[in-house]
Formats: sequence, structure tokens, C-alpha cells
Amino acid sequence: MKVLIVGSGGREHALAWKCAASSRVTEVLVAPGNAGTAREPKVRNVSVQSTDIGGLVRLARTEAVSLTIVGPEAPLVGGIVDAFQQDGLRCFGPRQAPARLEGSKAFAKEFLRRHRIPTAASVTVTRDSFDPEVVRRQRTPIVVKASGLAAGKGVVIAQTATEAVAAAEAMLAGRLGEAGHEVVIEEFLEGEEASFIVMADGSHVLPLATSQDHKRLQDGDRGPNTGGMGAYSPAPVVTPAIHERIMREVIEPTIRGLAAEGMAYTGFLYAGIMVARDGTPNVLEFNCRFGDPETQPILMRLRSDLTVLCEAALDGLLDQVQATWDARAALGVVMAAEGYPDAPRMGDAVTGLEGAAKLPGKIFHAGTRLSGDQVVVSGGRVLCATGMGTTVAEAQKVAYALANVVHYRGAVYRRDIGFRALAGHL
Ligand code: AMP
Ligand code: GLY
Repeated sequence: MKVLIVGSGGREHALAWKCAASSRVTEVLVAPGNAGTAREPKVRNVSVQSTDIGGLVRLARTEAVSLTIVGPEAPLVGGIVDAFQQDGLRCFGPRQAPARLEGSKAFAKEFLRRHRIPTAASVTVTRDSFDPEVVRRQRTPIVVKASGLAAGKGVVIAQTATEAVAAAEAMLAGRLGEAGHEVVIEEFLEGEEASFIVMADGSHVLPLATSQDHKRLQDGDRGPNTGGMGAYSPAPVVTPAIHERIMREVIEPTIRGLAAEGMAYTGFLYAGIMVARDGTPNVLEFNCRFGDPETQPILMRLRSDLTVLCEAALDGLLDQVQATWDARAALGVVMAAEGYPDAPRMGDAVTGLEGAAKLPGKIFHAGTRLSGDQVVVSGGRVLCATGMGTTVAEAQKVAYALANVVHYRGAVYRRDIGFRALAGHL
């Protein structure tokens, strides 16, 4: 079978690498892909952009693709799955209506409230309804979120009410374009974050291995929010008891609720969870896709054939399959470009990849492209050096050994990925 992966980041490189490892798969196409997918055995890049839904449908048809897996949120929120289905093509992901869980935080908060799923108390405001007094009455810090897709730039954690009002007003005035026309203002939650990602087939759920991301740019969780600077799996904060609570209090009511409302959910579903001290799993956000960089360590640990799992989901038979996992831990360190996330410096040559290829672990590419034979930086998050080990500490050593042999001007990466697991968070 031929598989198509939509997207160009580290998540998509990991998806393509994993699908190419399947003996059922003859070729993996990646649209548009990066320098890493260009060089991966059995993988071919095709220059169709991930938001060009019509172009992707044509590509899947002409290439006789049997399974498409969509990486990023924009095409999902744009209705790629509906378009593929209309053409009788198999595409793993949620349709446009349930993808609103990520596409509209206002919609997600309403849904969570309707189904009594734990989440921060919030109000949604528009330019017409915004009353700064409501914000001034709130306890600080106050979290201000643009409702629409904002590529990781839509959340401000304001330390004062004045700052919160300014953030909301800037969003409502159009600082983030369409994404900020509605703004969610919510209470700040304490606790430890985890990424809880499942596959769903409309009614059944297959939970994937747990993971934890590191959203801030700098060591010790300081600096600006980013798309994610590193992740590891499994996440010790998700104990068996917490796992059970997340499934029962968050995932199951979400999948059931969506089906009951006529929006059955098929695809990866990512719940960003803040685990409170008493174990309450509060939903911070939903994503309608796999996480980046969570995908990289999670797929390193997946022993099962991902194409089999996706096909079972598309057939509504997810209850008939199991995912088996490598018992070892996996950890990925994101190497970013100088100036990320605001103004990443691009175009520099990446060296040392041949040396890295001889070491244990795997470098997944994200913002890279080929210029002739040379790999060059072409995006904010450039690479994800991913290692495995019997402990998180060992996986961390392997990942950093990889990162340390790769060079480009101004490379930025955290030195403490996995610190919560290493500190023994309990
Ligand atoms: P989101 O895109 O909604 O997940 O927000 C981005 C990041 O902001 C999250 O990963 C959290 O670290 C932080 N965050 C979001 N909402 C809250 C909240 N209500 N309380 C505390 N931190 C939050
Ligand atoms: N790593 C966070 C995300 O994929 O949204």
C-alpha cells in the first residue's frame, strides 16, 4: 500500500518513518515534507502544500494512495477529511465539525461545560461584549486565549489584571487576525501538565503512550511559550490512577459527547491536561491531531504497525486492535533556530548529520530543506534529536549525544528536557 503523510514538521517525519517501517507499505509520500523525509528510505516528498486540500485530493487519487494521515491542524480544521471522504479516499483524522475542538477554543470550552468535563472556569468575549471590569474582578494570574488557531502564539498568562485587559484588547483589535475575534479568559490552573493522546474511531478509543512536553523556550520552564521544545514518554505524572481518571473523566465523555451531538470523532485526539494536586485532570486544550514533538518519542516506542491501527480506526474497529510499546523510555530534544519563536534565523547550513546517523537514536527533521545536497535551516523548530533508554536519564543521554554532534549557526535547545521525570515529580 501507498501512504500519504500531510505536513512538513518533525511530527510528519516521525509519521513517515514509522509508516515506511511497515512491510505492508511500498512507498510513503509526504506533502510537502522536509530534508529529513526527502532522505528517508521508501519515502518521497511531493511539493503540494498541506493547506491545498484540492491538490492533496488529486495527489491521493493519481498516486492511488490507500491511506492518508494528516499531521497539522490547519487542513483538518479546513475540512480535509470531509473532502477526502467525498472522493471515497481514506484519510485518518477528524472531520471539520469535530476538529473545531482545536479550531475554536470557545467551542471547546462550551463543549467541556456541556459535558461536565473538568476544565478552568472561563468566559468567552467578543469586541462587543468585552467588559474589562469582569477581568479586574478575577484572581491573578489570568489566562487570556485567542479562540482561533494562532500557531502557539494565542495564549497570554497575565500576572496583573491590567496586563490581561491589554492582552484581550490587543487580540480583539486584530493582533492575531481572525483567531482573536473571540477571546477566552480563564482562571489559572496549578499542577503538572501532561499530553494525553488517543486514537479514536468514532466510538472506541485506543490510548497511546503518555508523554510530557516542555512548552517554554528556556531551561526551568522560563521564557516565552513555544510549539514545544522537547518531550518524553512515558510521563510519570500519569500514574495508573491518573490514567484511569483521564480516560473516565475526559476522553470517554468527549468521544461519547461528540458522537451524541452528531460529530463522531475519528483521528488522533490530543488532550492537554493539567493534573491538579488532588489528581483532577483539568483540560487545558484539545488538539485534533498528534502532538509535535510528542509524536517523535511516542512513535519511537510504538512496536505495532501504525498503518494497521489507522485502518482499524477508519473501519470503526479500534476495539479489535492493540498497541504494543517498547518498555524503554524515549526522549526528544528540539533544536530550534536562533530567534525562535518570534523571528527564527533561516538559511544556515546544518552539519554533523552524517556523524549523528552513526549514533544510537534518531534525528527527526522539522524546519529543514535541501539546497542541492546541503541541509539548511528553513523553520523555527529545526530538528528533534530523539533517544531511547531503559530510564528517562539514559534516553536523555542518548538524545543529547545526538544533538551535540549537529551544528548550525545559532542553534538553540534546552539542556533539561525530562527534568520533571528525573527529579521524581512526586
Ligand atoms: P494552550 O494552547 O491552551 O494549551 O495553552 C498553552 C500553554 O499555556 C499550556 O500548555 C499551559 O502551559 C499554559 N496554560 C494554558 N491555559 C492555562 C491555565 N488555565 N492555567 C495555567 N496554565 C495554562
Ligand atoms: N507539543 C504541543 C502541541 O503539539 O500542540
